[in-house]
Amino acid sequence: MTKLRVAVSGVGSLGQHHARIASASERTELVAVVDPNEARGREIAGKFGTTWMATLEEVMPKVDVVQIAAPTGFHHGIGVAVLKAGKHVIMEKPLAATLAEGEALLQALAEARKANPKLVAAVGHLERFNPAVQKLRELGFKPRFAEATRVSPFPMRSMEVDVIMDVMIHDLDLLLALVGKPVKSVEAVGVPVLTKYADVVNARLKFEGGGFATVTASRVARKKERTLRAFGENAYASLDFAAQKLEVLRLVAGPEGPAVKPETVDITEGEPLKLELEAFYEACQGGIQDFVPWKEAFEAMRVADQVQKSVETSLKEMLG
Ligand SMILES: NC(=O)c1ccc[n+]([C@@H]2O[C@H](COP(=O)([O-])OP(=O)(O)OC[C@H]3O[C@@H](n4cnc5c(N)ncnc54)[C@H](O)[C@@H]3O)[C@@H](O)[C@H]2O)c1
Repeated sequence: MTKLRVAVSGVGSLGQHHARIASASERTELVAVVDPNEARGREIAGKFGTTWMATLEEVMPKVDVVQIAAPTGFHHGIGVAVLKAGKHVIMEKPLAATLAEGEALLQALAEARKANPKLVAAVGHLERFNPAVQKLRELGFKPRFAEATRVSPFPMRSMEVDVIMDVMIHDLDLLLALVGKPVKSVEAVGVPVLTKYADVVNARLKFEGGGFATVTASRVARKKERTLRAFGENAYASLDFAAQKLEVLRLVAGPEGPAVKPETVDITEGEPLKLELEAFYEACQGGIQDFVPWKEAFEAMRVADQVQKSVETSLKEMLG
């Protein structure tokens, strides 16, 4: 099969891994990396045997796919340009910095699909490709009550967005996918600590159909933790994203009444970003359509927006 010609836009902390995977995949040829920071662009281009370009316009006619890993504030502008050029695109999460920009991207996609209905537009919600998460979904586990925690020490980047858009968005997207129902109401508290935006946030979500979740995100924690604990119908699941471990306990009928039975869960570890990009490449080549669509990523943004609004209200109350 003809290889997809790829450009990676933004090769910072995460984009370098996009470049590494695109340069090594059998499905792709990494035509160029694009970054306004010449030293960084040249460094990554050299490392992965490709060319550095200062702007995407220079390389756009030569590629089939653009992987966008530029800072979130640039997602909208770059995304619209890529769609106008009719290229497949995977956008890093969050889809956009604001709901208005997210909506504009969805509109641009609808326009581009008029010319090419097979255009693939994915979002990098890579936790969906975490093997432990995939196993949880394979088991058909539907959380009724869930507790998600995603905390880390301050990363010294993504300071232009709050911890909700930067970090919590992963769990919002995942919970929407797992529960399979829209969020009905949101109550949240949070405070800025090291940036002018909320750096630590706790949100309680109520889903249509009766599911609940509490979600905690912090970028000012002492150590890293990325976990999900959830109760479903007669089952409990505990998932560690970083370790790719999943424990499932089932409530079964025993000789002396209900008993709790641990279930062995075998997981084949894998790099979520690589699994995500390979699935995206396959979709671009007309194979299985397994990626996170822009529409679903936008729904996660909508919930993130509700969390932001609730945090604002609670902050006003706190400060009197
Ligand atoms: N999926 C995930 O788990 C995950 C993890 C980290 C970051 N991200 C997302 O990836 C994006 C980038 O984050 P990061 O941590 O790599 O940031 P970063 O600051 O480390 O890197 C961003 C890079 O983009 C370059 N850049 C700036 N403006 C640009 C433009 N207009 N066009 C192209 N490149 C440009 C910068 O020079 C820099 O090299 C953000 O949207 C972030 O939310 C996702």
